[in-house]
Amino acid sequence: MFTVLFLNQKGGVGKTTLADELSFALERRGFTVAFVSTDPQGGSVHEVCTDPDVAEGCDFQIVDTAGVLNDAVSDWCCAADVILIPMLPSTRDMEPTMRTYGIAKDSGTDAAIYLLVNNFYAFGKLDKQLVEFLEAERIPIIGKVPRAVAFAQAAAAGKSVAEYDPYSHAVPAIEKLADSIIEEKEKKHA
Ligand SMILES: Nc1ncnc2c1ncn2[C@@H]1O[C@H](COP(=O)(O)OP(=O)(O)OP(=O)(O)O)[C@@H](O)[C@H]1O
Ligand SMILES: [Mg+2]
Repeated sequence: MFTVLFLNQKGGVGKTTLADELSFALERRGFTVAFVSTDPQGGSVHEVCTDPDVAEGCDFQIVDTAGVLNDAVSDWCCAADVILIPMLPSTRDMEPTMRTYGIAKDSGTDAAIYLLVNNFYAFGKLDKQLVEFLEAERIPIIGKVPRAVAFAQAAAAGKSVAEYDPYSHAVPAIEKLADSIIEEKEKKHA
């Protein structure tokens, strides 16, 4: 079992959406996925797996968390193989995201920790500045996911964006994220 933890103290950055989409993308490739959530509000398309033994038997455990950080966060960070911190390209997201990054780092985890820029617009000024800032700070970015209404429409239909709208510009970004996560898994078991 390879565990991917979605974390950000900031609400509404896409933790649940991207956890769902990554799970769908891995399932499309034939992997078994346990979708786990620490968020009592839920909201995922995937049914939440509550049996740790079932999760243990899966190829991947994808963990969605709530937009608050509590005592369990450190334990989840230590249990993770990869920690993904989705963020929006907005100055308001910077501080909570950096705090979340610090908490993940300070947990003592061996996991690789990456930012995942969501709602990314390649021609946006703030978007460009954000990427430059993160690169200057040597904070690794695993991917950039564009803004696409198809994400919400797909979730409302109980589907992945690839199934709902195969031609959406969001699909390649999700596929690339799945590739990167599979690479991380292979690196770990190499
Ligand atoms: N790339 C995107 N393009 C367009 N809409 C998006 C994108 N990512 C997420 N959304 C929308 O933004 C809203 C918030 O996303 P989501 O619920 O995944 O965030 P969250 O981080 O899980 O929030 P919370 O902290 O409340 O659990 C949802 O309505 C979702 O459909
Ligand atoms: Mg959520």
